[in-house]
Amino acid sequence: MCGIVGYIGPRQAYPIIITGLKRQEYRGYDSTGIALINPTLKVYKKKGKVAELESAILGEDVKGNIGIGHTRWATHGEPSDRNAHPHVSASGKLAIIHNGIIENYAQLKTELLKKGYQFNSDTDTEVLLNFIEEIKNNTNCSLEEAVRIALKRVSGAYVILLLDQDHPDTIVAARKGSPLVIGIGKGEHFLGSDATPMLEYTKEVVYVNDYEVAIIKADELILKNLGNERQTPYITKLDMELAAIEKGGYDHFMLKEIFEQPQTIYDCLRGRLDAEAGTITMSGIQKYADQIKNANRIVMVACGTSWHAGLVAEYIFEELTRISVEVEYASEFRYRNPVINKGDVIIAISQSGETADTLVAIENAKAKGAIILGVVNVVGSSIARVSDAGAYTHAGPEIGVASTKAFTAQLAVLTMIALKIGYEKGTIDRDRYLRLLQELDAVPGKVAEVLQSHERIKEIAEKYKDAKDCLYLGRGYNFPVALEGALKLKEISYIHAEGYPAAEMKHGPIALVEETLPVIFVATKDSYHEKVVSNMQEIKARKGKIIAVINESDQLSPTLANDVILVPEADEIIAPMISVIPMQLLAYYIGVAKGYDVDKPRNLAKSVTVE
Ligand code: G6P
Repeated sequence: MCGIVGYIGPRQAYPIIITGLKRQEYRGYDSTGIALINPTLKVYKKKGKVAELESAILGEDVKGNIGIGHTRWATHGEPSDRNAHPHVSASGKLAIIHNGIIENYAQLKTELLKKGYQFNSDTDTEVLLNFIEEIKNNTNCSLEEAVRIALKRVSGAYVILLLDQDHPDTIVAARKGSPLVIGIGKGEHFLGSDATPMLEYTKEVVYVNDYEVAIIKADELILKNLGNERQTPYITKLDMELAAIEKGGYDHFMLKEIFEQPQTIYDCLRGRLDAEAGTITMSGIQKYADQIKNANRIVMVACGTSWHAGLVAEYIFEELTRISVEVEYASEFRYRNPVINKGDVIIAISQSGETADTLVAIENAKAKGAIILGVVNVVGSSIARVSDAGAYTHAGPEIGVASTKAFTAQLAVLTMIALKIGYEKGTIDRDRYLRLLQELDAVPGKVAEVLQSHERIKEIAEKYKDAKDCLYLGRGYNFPVALEGALKLKEISYIHAEGYPAAEMKHGPIALVEETLPVIFVATKDSYHEKVVSNMQEIKARKGKIIAVINESDQLSPTLANDVILVPEADEIIAPMISVIPMQLLAYYIGVAKGYDVDKPRNLAKSVTVE
């Protein structure tokens, strides 16, 4: 979490940094700060979002051709002006911004306190900066050298950018575990946690690797490892347009991203799925197809919404490939000494490709001989690079903090992988395979159909917006959709919501049911449909308010439900990509009706680069 931006070159740094920070607010928005050198070091920082800092310093002479900026998601120290980055060193000459956590900061702080250092914030970042300055002063070395020495003693994750007033022609940066992208311009360089701050200036970028230090001047980029050996910067061409990160006429990014789904699912299938020819082309997966087919088990590792995609995929993979699947929260998997055998297949699912827990979980599994497949949205991200192979979801930049289009794209990719493996393995017959390819091909159109019901869903949102709790129920493939519906509502509207398997509801949540409790049933036609309808009866008997997401051919549910949302029919394997759309819209409209900032819900961040 936290977004970092930097610029060095002939332009004014301030507008580039402010715009870049706004684009990276999805990474955190507790406080904002900027440091510029002109000719001395100047720092402007404030609790709150980027726009608040911008208004606070309106009219000030924020000039300079070198600068760094930060948008924060608090870890050490509450969100406040004093804890906002950049932090300035004891001498007043060095400034730092940091994304990550310095785990041994307390020990370093004790050492520095003994030496008489005082601290102006509660952050681990200020400790690291003074530790670097102490090394620099003691050994009389360059900033770059001091950074290298300091980082050898640091445990944790970081991207840091540093300015030195005595060297106003250089930014020093380093990374371990958190992302850092450097954009290469003509006589200028741009830095970001992702490539969005530099999109209008350059398409050539370098993704800095772990344990590398970058020494960046306007016309020179030097990369070194912590052993002071030069590394060759590997330049990648960006395939992202500015329009993709703008709202395009929608009120919020979340709404835009929900409405983009017919296109994003299509983009994800395009070039891979040929329903007529009966083929699925996925070169990354093809390379490992034999190992996957012969694997004893597959472990899906992910967090948040991506974990829900993993749960749906568990049902799909077991059905189509007959390989045993486990779905793990990355944060649990990485710490509980899991049994991993050589040849196990780990599928890491991540929108950002930077989630710290997922990243470390797959690094550990890889070291034990597992094959790592990445289902990732952000091209060039850390998880994509650590993976042995995989498939990008091609959903385009997702900016709304609550994930929407990434989820359906993940499902599309995972379904294609399962179909491909199942068919090659012979665990599904040709007829079913071809029918499912056709069904998959039809998903973008069906999603577009659901989106047409948005006004109806908005009315339902108005009706239930004051609920204190909500229950989401589903069975089989729709159970993870119920979980995802509950998560969306919590994230965006701050209403307590629980997702549950519809049958399991009798073992607890049914005690919550009373007249005021909205219960959302994800009850599209599947092998369990009659059972879900029985569960609806049980809720109705206790006077709960039923909102049913069902197919048109369902005659019975409308007689039980207070409100109905119709979605087109689909094979149960495919249905979650369609039935999740009303969940997203409902959460969105409730959040908006309650007046919340749905793109930046409180306390959340999109890219969780701390564990
Ligand atoms: C955060 C986001 C969620 C996301 C989760 C996992 O919590 O707010 O929307 O699902 O991280 O992120 P990933 O990028 O790994 O999918």
